[in-house]
Amino acid sequence: MSRTKNVLTLATAVGVVFGLAACAPAGTTQNAGGGEGEVECNVGIAMPTRSLERWINDGEGLSALLEEDGCTVDLQYADNETDQQISQIQNQVAGGAQILVVAAIDGETLGPVLEDAAGQGVTVIAYDRLINGTDAVDYYATFDNYQVGQLQGKFIEEQLDLAGGAGPFNLEPFAGSPDDNNAGFFFQGAWDVLQPYVESGQLVIPSNKLSATNDDWQSIGILGWGSDDAQAEMDNRLQSFYTGGQKVDVVLSPNDSLALGIEQSLLSAGYAPGADWPIITGQDADKANVQAILADQQSMTVWKDTRELGERVQTMIQQIVAGEDVEVNDEETYDNGVKVVPAYLLDPQVVTKDDVEPVLIESGFLEASDVGL
Ligand code: BGC
Repeated sequence: MSRTKNVLTLATAVGVVFGLAACAPAGTTQNAGGGEGEVECNVGIAMPTRSLERWINDGEGLSALLEEDGCTVDLQYADNETDQQISQIQNQVAGGAQILVVAAIDGETLGPVLEDAAGQGVTVIAYDRLINGTDAVDYYATFDNYQVGQLQGKFIEEQLDLAGGAGPFNLEPFAGSPDDNNAGFFFQGAWDVLQPYVESGQLVIPSNKLSATNDDWQSIGILGWGSDDAQAEMDNRLQSFYTGGQKVDVVLSPNDSLALGIEQSLLSAGYAPGADWPIITGQDADKANVQAILADQQSMTVWKDTRELGERVQTMIQQIVAGEDVEVNDEETYDNGVKVVPAYLLDPQVVTKDDVEPVLIESGFLEASDVGL
């Protein structure tokens, strides 16, 4: 939203990049293909929605970093409406943005608007979510999305001692928004751990929402990642498939917004934190979910320190502006259907009740008062 009129010149940018290079983690580099001479650091940031805490942190954090570098920044949120996001990007390019940082609402639909932008020399960084079906995406900065799912799956495996042969346990699997490229990676990461136990009968899915061999995760995806929709879906499953006194033992939830809805549904159905409360996974370390973890209503969350992602994108932008090679560490995983997008993947981390204080609060990601401590 904020617009400042500063220009980061090539000379200053090179200085900044060289300054950072000493402490940069090892990785390969990709040529930005940028032009020569003075490049204006004029950045349009397109975020999906203000309705989720993480995107507010992401957008505001990144804007602040770029403004410190003297960049002109336009930050927009699109109410999870793709058309709105497209027109915001068009306005940003018309307003002079030379670099776009886009967290796509729908990974499939931004091709044409980004191709127009690329035609005008704009560099595009896909932020957190990949943009598919176009060559007009230059770089991708994200957390390792498959790893997020693996951490959730392995957490469940360990908690239930599945590797030791325990079971059977009742599992309800959920998946994220089918239009979000990340959601498939999250699900696959988790399912690669859990699927053998569904096959062996150690994990049973009373709702039959997915069979062991069924990899059609989109059929159980919650479009738009809404808590209310997850709650309604969990209500349906509990009312339809848990009528004979059966209990849910474990819920695979890909993120915190879904976990919140699922937890509300369990509370309304009479589950109480303690003995019969299921294991529930999450992702993002949203405040409400950290409170739920402290109240024994959620077992874990996969924390992605969005400040780190912002710093990585800041570095990419400094390198692009300087006409330097852009550092990436993955050139294999993220094929968007047209090209393999050079990516920088950061490491996600499991947070449980014991980690709230030493990890989330000590690192300054959350204030103790944010979570009632
Ligand atoms: C992000 C998650 C987030 C979800 C819903 C995903 O693309 O990677 O961190 O929970 O979108 O906004």
